[in-house]
Amino acid sequence: MSCQGQPKLPTERHINHSYPASLPFQTGWTDIVHIMADTSARETHTPSQTYLSTRGGDYGLSFETVVLKGLAADGGLFLPEEVPIATDWQSWKDLSYAELAFQILSLYISTDEIPADDLKDILDRSYSTFRAKEVTPLVHLQDNLYLLELFHGPSYSFKDCALQFLGNLFEYFLVRRNQGKEGKDRHHLTVVGATSGDTGSAAIYGLRGKKDVSVFILHPKGRVSPFQERQMTTVLDGNVHNMAVTGTFDDCQDIVKALFADPDTNQALKLGAVNSINWARILAQIVYYFHAYFALARTSPSFKIGDKVRAVVPTGNFGDVLAGYFARRMGLPIEKLVVATNENDILDRFWKTGRYETKPARGPEVEGGLRVNGANVHEGGVRETLSPAMDILVSSNFERLLWYLAYEFASSAGMNDEWNKRQASQEVALWLSDLKKKGGFGPVYQDVLESARRTFESERVTDTQTIQAIKDLYHDVNYVLDPHTAVGVTAAKRSIGKTGPQMPHISLSTAHPAKFVAAVELALQDETNFSFDKVLPAEFAGLSEKETRVTTVENSWEKVREIVKKQAEEDMKR
Ligand SMILES: Cc1ncc(COP(=O)(O)O)c(C=O)c1O
Repeated sequence: MSCQGQPKLPTERHINHSYPASLPFQTGWTDIVHIMADTSARETHTPSQTYLSTRGGDYGLSFETVVLKGLAADGGLFLPEEVPIATDWQSWKDLSYAELAFQILSLYISTDEIPADDLKDILDRSYSTFRAKEVTPLVHLQDNLYLLELFHGPSYSFKDCALQFLGNLFEYFLVRRNQGKEGKDRHHLTVVGATSGDTGSAAIYGLRGKKDVSVFILHPKGRVSPFQERQMTTVLDGNVHNMAVTGTFDDCQDIVKALFADPDTNQALKLGAVNSINWARILAQIVYYFHAYFALARTSPSFKIGDKVRAVVPTGNFGDVLAGYFARRMGLPIEKLVVATNENDILDRFWKTGRYETKPARGPEVEGGLRVNGANVHEGGVRETLSPAMDILVSSNFERLLWYLAYEFASSAGMNDEWNKRQASQEVALWLSDLKKKGGFGPVYQDVLESARRTFESERVTDTQTIQAIKDLYHDVNYVLDPHTAVGVTAAKRSIGKTGPQMPHISLSTAHPAKFVAAVELALQDETNFSFDKVLPAEFAGLSEKETRVTTVENSWEKVREIVKKQAEEDMKR
């Protein structure tokens, strides 16, 4: 079937073809792959606790497997075989953040893998590190517009909500695997990640001091802000290794990809992923949509449980907003999710046109950035904006939504569920192959686009509008937005313009404004009563005094591999 044309009728082979009992795995992780395809395992796992790959090569996998592997062997992303319906979600209204997380996560993780008391303990520890009692407080901005502050974790980014949990989860699985094992027999996970500044610190704060985990974060030397660099390099735990690569962020990413693609390195070091392709990150983020909804019901006298709300999400890799999609599918009354992009607008263009395609820039200057409308545009087409964490060419997690859209479309053919899943995976594999080979695909079949539009709306926000939003909110309610959050708030205001003021909007605030000084200063420099010290946490001010540890490395994946291997071996002895 092609979602770009009429559905083809299934053949006999499709109908009768059942899943094989086991799958060959092509990674160095065969020892940790748990397949749930056998009947006894299926009894302990509901379909929403069992995982498949969006490209159809893996299925019936345990939660532990998908968390430790990160990416499927066929290049796809992991999804639960079914989205669970939370039939009694209303009864969760008075739960604490960690208790709510327990209810939600239990639907996706079998007690056979993590007993209830252990999961509770992991969650309690993960959210006890937040500075706010509510973990993610909901703040009233103006009229029916609310801001969900997600930056009260250790690195002042929304990523802490998932990475604090993921760090504890890695440790839990590894400690269990390593019971009674010594030396080389122990499973030691080596997390390698590239950062342009933001993800690195959240990953480091999530993984610092964890047993049997080494973390290597590569940043481009001299190209992250001094503050972001200090946030990472002042963490001195023995298992944390900062590497300053003499190259660009893209070079760092290429090095990480080369390490993952090298079977010897992957096998020897058991590489782990902490970016938002890891399912556990999406899963943990579902929680704050429910939490915000209940907070709204407590705060607003006119809002009661069961009423609809819109959620607005500043979006790059489509991880955060995808978590909102899961919350909605589970039963939370989110009328629509508003995808807010900056000028890197591949997602906005998808919702407007049904085509998902990159826009490569051309010309001799592209390597160092081509000036287009005042912004630097790089070879692939990525523009440098004031909300840099959303400067992406393609959104990696969008593949997960595509799978659901294709699955829903396949389901309309009236075949069985197994057939629908296969069709969805085939379609996704085709789309992704076109994206790779031709730079895009689409327009997708009209039913697919309509389905996407029933759940989502999108808005594109320019740098000028971002600056204006920071100024306006400061003037109107004396609140300082970070630039990513400002993209969301601009989109929220536009959305309110369409729905009318009666529809409550929750806009997600993804970073503390002090992390993105340049944009905030640009917006508020002329304000007589504004000084940056007003928003600067005391903790940040002290960073420049602290000791740092960082290794400068040549821009060469072999050199990085050498250091990572040597250091990971040292860490294993600890
Ligand atoms: C501050 C900030 N806002 C928004 C986003 C976008 O989130 P996502 O990539 O999950 O769409 C990011 C991602 O890195 C971010 O760091």
